Amino acid sequence: MDPYTTARQAFERLYGTAAHHHFQAPGRVNLIGEHTDYNDGFVLPAAIDYHTCIVGNPREDRVVNLVALDLNEARSSFHLDEPIEHDAAAPWSDYLRGVCDVLRKAGYQLCGADLLVTGNVPQGAGLSSSASLEVVTARAMTQLAGETLSGTQAALFSQQAENQFVGCQCGIMDQLISARGQQGHAALIDCRSLTTQPVPMPADAAIVIINSNVKRGLVDSEYNQRRLQCEAAARHLQVPALRDATLDQLEQAKDGMDPVTYRRARHIITENERTLAAADALAQSDWPRISELMAASHASMRDDFEITVPPIDGLVAMVADLIGDQGGVRMTGGGFGGCVVSLVHEHQVEAVIERVNQRYEAEFGIKPTVYVCHPVDGAYPD
Ligand code: GLA
Repeated sequence: MDPYTTARQAFERLYGTAAHHHFQAPGRVNLIGEHTDYNDGFVLPAAIDYHTCIVGNPREDRVVNLVALDLNEARSSFHLDEPIEHDAAAPWSDYLRGVCDVLRKAGYQLCGADLLVTGNVPQGAGLSSSASLEVVTARAMTQLAGETLSGTQAALFSQQAENQFVGCQCGIMDQLISARGQQGHAALIDCRSLTTQPVPMPADAAIVIINSNVKRGLVDSEYNQRRLQCEAAARHLQVPALRDATLDQLEQAKDGMDPVTYRRARHIITENERTLAAADALAQSDWPRISELMAASHASMRDDFEITVPPIDGLVAMVADLIGDQGGVRMTGGGFGGCVVSLVHEHQVEAVIERVNQRYEAEFGIKPTVYVCHPVDGAYPD
């Protein structure tokens, strides 16, 4: 059954009336350009065919009722005329509360609503289940109230909710691609100007995402720490953001920098170069170059940015060994677990899955999960 049918049926059962509106926003996979977004740099993600959905109706009063279908129908409610607080018993509702809070503070006239949330974006896997929940909330709450937002505005409010209400100092990538992704394309995003350039996927390319199922711990604190280290490096190099620094500048400043800050900066500067090169390579279906750039990106995340873990490095090595220069593979997302993305020819998909199923659990004692994805439209297709 499609997720909307399930959601509508559950809504009717729980709220006693039919849901007249439905909204969705996709998760994302980042092909290359990791941790570059909050350094004003470049990223190359794609929205994927896994979505967070909201069905619901506006209410006459100012109460917002929420049900999380996939969390045993957990509930949470708040009032739009009162300060919007965290609900300790329903931390999942922070994403929806945060978006309503920032929209309200920005002057949008929201209305009460009965909503039900569901979806199939794997949670805690680094595929942006949170960003897709924020973006679909922005879409639902404004549209139900007759307000309009552009995709970029929806992404910015969603990021603000995550930074200010949830407390993770994330960049703009996840929310922007969830809002503005295009079917069949990755997007080269300039995270300073927020302009996006669609990059067509090679005709026979498949995106295979492998979830390491490593339980991610301390993700937010490690993430926020990386961000501070990058800002310290930019200050040291006297540039507005690491986007503005060159490798030459960094090498010249090396002696005065502590080695960790130096390595963090080297990852960002080289990753920006790789991302721009990868957008070209993808557009030209230059598989050996894609392979080389994704491998270098992974090595840089492992050695300079230090955000990978042994099972992830192991997964990347076992896939790289199979596909050689006919595809690329690297960790994707914030790090410390989560997923590996591999970009391969369609005909290699089965072999990749077989390789991972044969070797990963034997080596690391954890069962992997594999998703074969296609780039889809975001919540705000142009
Ligand atoms: C998380 C953040 C993004 C980005 C990535 C790393 O997904 O939400 O803003 O920084 O990590 O590239």
